[in-house]
Amino acid sequence: MIHSIITFPDPILKQKSAPVHIITDEVIQLARDMAETMYDAPGVGLAAPQIGVLKRVIVIDIAGKNELPELITVINPVILNAEGEVYEEEGCLSVPDYSANVKRYAKVTAKGLTIDGKEQVWHADGLLAVAFQHEIDHLEGILFIDRLSPLKRELYIKKIKKRAV
Ligand code: NI
Repeated sequence: MIHSIITFPDPILKQKSAPVHIITDEVIQLARDMAETMYDAPGVGLAAPQIGVLKRVIVIDIAGKNELPELITVINPVILNAEGEVYEEEGCLSVPDYSANVKRYAKVTAKGLTIDGKEQVWHADGLLAVAFQHEIDHLEGILFIDRLSPLKRELYIKKIKKRAV
């Protein structure tokens, strides 16, 4: 099922998500819904809080439009190791009509459970490394705009407020 995506400044996006202790049918359905919602948007990643569920589940697919889908579903993802630095343009389905350069690690080693409950390690660089950091941030209640300079962040918030009036 495709869900509607929660957008800034909804306070849900500021909350910390809880770890998944048992991969129930509900969690499996959540992961499926998240993938469906991400592909529909379309986006390259989605975290459970973006559809209002405060559980540590993320989905990522950085394959381009004309490539075969390569869905990565991770439950309780953590970053084990990170190195290097990149400064790339980022956007977020929860922060519509805005993108900005964000400083991230260039390479990360991430660990978590697959939907089958198996532990897996991902060695990521490039867009995949950024996606892991961006989605795991969501589980901590952090948006990419929280990683911008206070001035840039203020400009975005002003833009949003203007639209709301
Ligand atoms: Ni996002």
